[in-house]
Amino acid sequence: MRMVDLIEKKRNGFALTKEELVFIVDGYTNGDIPDYQMSAFAMAVYFQDMTDEEITNLTLLMAKSGDMVDLSGIDGVKVDKHSTGGVGDTTTLILAPLVASLGIPVAKMSGRGLGHTGGTLDKFEAIPGFSIDLTEEKFLESVNRLNVAVIGQTGELAPMDKKLYALRDVTATVESIPMIAASIMSKKIAAGADAIVLDVTVGDGAFMKTPEKARRLAETMVRIGNLAGRKTKAVLTNMDEPLGFAIGNSLEVVEALECLKGGGPKDLMELVYTLGAEMVVLAGKASTTSDAKNQLKEKIQNGEALQKFIEMIMNQGGTTDFIEEPEKLLTGKIKKEVLSDKDGFVEKMEAQTLGIAAMKLGAGRSTKEDEIDFAVGIVLHKKVGDPVKIGESIATIHSNREENSEIEKMIISAIQIGEEKKDVELILGII
Ligand code: URA
Ligand code: CA
Repeated sequence: MRMVDLIEKKRNGFALTKEELVFIVDGYTNGDIPDYQMSAFAMAVYFQDMTDEEITNLTLLMAKSGDMVDLSGIDGVKVDKHSTGGVGDTTTLILAPLVASLGIPVAKMSGRGLGHTGGTLDKFEAIPGFSIDLTEEKFLESVNRLNVAVIGQTGELAPMDKKLYALRDVTATVESIPMIAASIMSKKIAAGADAIVLDVTVGDGAFMKTPEKARRLAETMVRIGNLAGRKTKAVLTNMDEPLGFAIGNSLEVVEALECLKGGGPKDLMELVYTLGAEMVVLAGKASTTSDAKNQLKEKIQNGEALQKFIEMIMNQGGTTDFIEEPEKLLTGKIKKEVLSDKDGFVEKMEAQTLGIAAMKLGAGRSTKEDEIDFAVGIVLHKKVGDPVKIGESIATIHSNREENSEIEKMIISAIQIGEEKKDVELILGII
């Protein structure tokens, strides 16, 4: 077999056989196929698409290109959750202890943030002392005892994807539904969960800018997951504005704490209950999502979800004094209010611009080597549809730098104020 023939076949719109995909995945993983041929292939896929059978084969081959995590040492149905990328997405911090408080094992392997979206690992590490470097033995033991633990990726999960994703990033081939689906699902399948709930985001801050494309991505991933023997559901969510109010690591830990104490932003809790209910149903602890939601709400109301959060933090070496005194985590030296220059209603809050502004403050990385400043970020005071008065604070910048005028300008440009009161729907569908 020759790679050039397979590039030509895909370029001309034909589907590749499993054997041909084996040749490509093996060859690219071990270095026999050079980047220039893989780039041409990625561009051919971008324009010609793939059939469901091709995507499923590609996904499984990519999953098997490295280590496959074995969670069989944990009792019960292991449910994982994944988001295709949001800004201020605090859901995992809340969902992990909340779902675990119902006796469902949550063996969470999370990633770090890059670019305008934050990573769950970074957010947990904003809790002083919290370690994500558990040995595999301690990880499994923790999940069996407490039903929850979070660690960084161990071993080499889907190395083919790592290499291909880096190549796609610099060849304008990221926004391809078959390749995104294979990329995400190969890692989820390799990570060992029995059931997977996907949060597929749509809009300004997301990979998929239209609901139609996001729906197709969600349907594709759900089909692949089920074909691979993992029960899979997807929730389509609107990412035209950030989730909740807080963007930034410590700020989001405090936001998660408020939610676990029974408060918190309405949109964030709506997403938590929607994703959580799908997880509970897939785990077999409820037969309907409305029953599952009621069970989750009870665990917030009776304090057991918060208790689970505390147990989880203590188990991983973190301090818990911030539970009673959240200000302990908010150590940014400068708090600058951003004032509205108009009367009206918030019509738009560009998630991507706000995510980049938080990153520039030091809450995220623009390159893998950047150090994160956990304390900094942005707290919004408004959501789309809210009324605003001239001179009123629309956001607070938490910073460790004297000079914040560029960030302030970005926030003002991202928050558009007009005359019309708009309603936004967060949950666009469940697949
Ligand atoms: N996230 C991934 O892991 N892979 C993609 O291709 C896109 C988003
Ligand atoms: Ca948030």
